Amino acid sequence: MSVDLRTRVDSEQAPVEAGSFFRETFPALLDAHHALIAPGARELALKDLCVETDGEPFTLAWDGDRASVAPGSRGAAHVRLTGEQLSDLVNDQSTPVAFMSNRMLDMPAGGLPDFLNWWLVLRAALDARRIHVRGDVRFEAPPRRTFTPDDSDDAMRAFLEEAGYLHIQGLFSEGEMAAVAADYPKAAPHYAKGDPLAWFATTREGGEELVRMEGFERFSPAAVELIEDERFRRIGRIPGIGHLPVKKPGTRIGALTKPIGVVKGISDVPWHKDCSLGRHSYECCNLTVGISVTGADADSGQLRVVPGTHRALVWPAPCIQPGQGLEPIDLPTRTGDVTVHLSCTLHMSQPPVRRTRKVLYTGFGQRAADPAAADRNRRRLAAVRSKTHTRVSQEPGYLGE
Ligand SMILES: [Fe+2]
Repeated sequence: MSVDLRTRVDSEQAPVEAGSFFRETFPALLDAHHALIAPGARELALKDLCVETDGEPFTLAWDGDRASVAPGSRGAAHVRLTGEQLSDLVNDQSTPVAFMSNRMLDMPAGGLPDFLNWWLVLRAALDARRIHVRGDVRFEAPPRRTFTPDDSDDAMRAFLEEAGYLHIQGLFSEGEMAAVAADYPKAAPHYAKGDPLAWFATTREGGEELVRMEGFERFSPAAVELIEDERFRRIGRIPGIGHLPVKKPGTRIGALTKPIGVVKGISDVPWHKDCSLGRHSYECCNLTVGISVTGADADSGQLRVVPGTHRALVWPAPCIQPGQGLEPIDLPTRTGDVTVHLSCTLHMSQPPVRRTRKVLYTGFGQRAADPAAADRNRRRLAAVRSKTHTRVSQEPGYLGE
């Protein structure tokens, strides 16, 4: 079971014209992939959805067994898109979650869940992927396990492929983590308000705190030493499909501090797949690695994941899709532990309530089939992502369930 889930290449992306897509392409795909759509769609609360593209309406309808599309507006839910948004949606460059995050979601009737339910149908039809049905994802071994550096790559690979994450205890020492922590105050003065690499959050006490320093590698020799170390590089080889360390300057390491009581600005991200804003079929699965500079638990900002969700076509955010039948687990860590998750494993960071924590995020990506075309599309998507961290975070203790 490889974790290379890519099915699309950026340079092969075709423009989408709403009329011909809804009159010809989409109905044919709904017929062709009925068997992949119907079992999952029956479990969704699908409301008829009018998709209006540059003023031209088509209504997607579900009759209990089949999805259909017809000209006109008859939906209980209604979304307005630009031609570019429809094209990005169809080509899997963007998603309803991305539109919402960028405050571009224009729904005069219904809400994000209605759009997400139909997004599952759309992806199933376009990507020939089965909509998740409760019970589809099974595990050979219990999906909760902690590894040590002495465990074999093969054992970790098998677990990662099945569960979508790894917890490796004690990969780094307390001394190494202390050296990284000592670089935080040295790096902080380089991050000012308005810098897209600096994320700030306001706490209940009213203070504004620097919560994320992207490009931390520029100011922390100790952190660079870690990611160039063989213990870290080994992680990229575990899936066995040629993952490479993230190299682009300014994106190699994000250094996070998680304060208590954030009321504005994102410090703790609710449930999401990292591909929730788009590009799943071009990039998944990338590997995200969290290095616990300080330990974390339920009171101090631990990571939580839903094992097996990388194998399931489900809502990619902003909560665990109701009724999907997959259970979240906590990933408490100690100083020097590492967590690894796939870009399409559903995860969240739990807002700290008693103690703050520090964690580095870095990772590995797959080599793009057409790097130049991938880079052009990534830059467009990055413009969306750069705006998301100004939105309101969760209440302390919120689990997003
Ligand atoms: Fe994430």
